[in-house]
Amino acid sequence: MARLKIVAWPESVLLTPAEPVTKFDDKLKKLVEDMFETMYAAPGVGLAGTQVAIAKRMFVMDCTGGKDPSRRFFMANPEIILKEGKQDGDEGCLSIPGIYSKVQRSMHVIARGQDVNGKEYQIEGTELEARCLQHETDHCDGFLYINRISPLKRELVLRKVRKLQKTGEWPS
Ligand code: NI
Repeated sequence: MARLKIVAWPESVLLTPAEPVTKFDDKLKKLVEDMFETMYAAPGVGLAGTQVAIAKRMFVMDCTGGKDPSRRFFMANPEIILKEGKQDGDEGCLSIPGIYSKVQRSMHVIARGQDVNGKEYQIEGTELEARCLQHETDHCDGFLYINRISPLKRELVLRKVRKLQKTGEWPS
């Protein structure tokens, strides 16, 4: 397994809708293992293909930090097919490292997509898992959490980013 480089805002791959995953081959399986390794090492609870500069609709996620293998997911071509309730909470992103903002999300969601063999399945998540499913599916569409907050809050986040860019502390 290998750790991949996580790209940071404003890399264009993060801001562009990704292409569907169509090949479920050994190359994909190896990439998925590398994505898990990269996510755990970061550490993070989710990582999308676009964040490792691969413009494909897919993500890995594990909100248990490796403690519950049954909640370790890879999903290709995700679609949120059910959204219920609301939650407010701090949200971050490995591509906007170290900066958090309150983001309103649905409390309970079901995502539909494909596993690493191309088989269709669904993930049902609440609270953090629901937040993560929405956040990672957004990545596949070229959206970041800063697209889901008010212009004022977005400006606060981007001001922090610009400060870090100026001092050379922002990944490039
Ligand atoms: Ni993210």
